[in-house]
Amino acid sequence: MASYKVVAASFLLCCLVQTCYGGVLFSSLERTIDVTASPKEGQVLSAGVDKISVTWALNNTLPSGIDSTYKTIKVKLCYAPVSQRDRPWRKMENNLSRDKTCQQKIVSKPYDASNKTSQSFEWIIGRDIPTATYFVRAYAYDQNDMEVGYGQTTNDKKSTNLFEINGVTGKHTSLDISSVCFSAFSVVSLFVFFYIEKRKGKAASSVEQKVIT
Ligand SMILES: *[C@@H]1O[C@H](CO)[C@@H](O)[C@H](O)[C@H]1NC(C)=O
Ligand SMILES: *[C@@H]1O[C@H](CO)[C@@H](O)[C@H](O)[C@H]1NC(C)=O
Ligand SMILES: *[C@@H]1O[C@H](CO)[C@@H](O)[C@H](O)[C@H]1NC(C)=O
Repeated sequence: MASYKVVAASFLLCCLVQTCYGGVLFSSLERTIDVTASPKEGQVLSAGVDKISVTWALNNTLPSGIDSTYKTIKVKLCYAPVSQRDRPWRKMENNLSRDKTCQQKIVSKPYDASNKTSQSFEWIIGRDIPTATYFVRAYAYDQNDMEVGYGQTTNDKKSTNLFEINGVTGKHTSLDISSVCFSAFSVVSLFVFFYIEKRKGKAASSVEQKVIT
């Protein structure tokens, strides 16, 4: 009963948050951040091995104060359209609360409006990054963690300056299989443990009864 209430409460809270902060539309954002990443156009990198260094800064041709609400910059790895086709789990949506273009965060840094020097970060491509064509995008967030600006390494059509990542294969699947086996093992041992505990409990209570009678 208590857990039912918790679920109901969190659902309600979710709804409230959704109405307060409905997703921002990508088309409403201004391109204010200049982003560059180390991969050359068409370069093929290996997940778990190669590095990507990204550099970002506010575009200094924009009117001053445009960054007054910026609190955080998050740099993300994003699927190019060619790697989104026929894959609903990577689908692009104008509503950013539903957009699945940029699923991998590279780095998140507080934005310092008084320091407009460019910032950079070096990232080793995670072993979990799947084989696909990518670009890099940076979002600026306000204090409510809503997107207020962006920048990316490709053009608006996302057709230039794309690079590829070769995912970790072979080893990765054997790792997956072993982790599945391990989880199954833990579940089974949990049941065995409960069974033993229950039997112990029964034995103990029957002993107690004997003592009383
Ligand atoms: C974006 O999607 C969310 C969740 O589906 C919704 O609550 C919100 O109103 C949408 N935002 C806009 C601007 O359409
Ligand atoms: C900065 O913004 C201007 C105007 O939008 C644009 O023409 C220029 O290419 C941008 N600078 C960089 C380095 O992207
Ligand atoms: C500005 O940012 C750069 C990069 O993070 C840092 O090295 C530098 O010390 C900062 N300057 C000031 C005045 O905070």
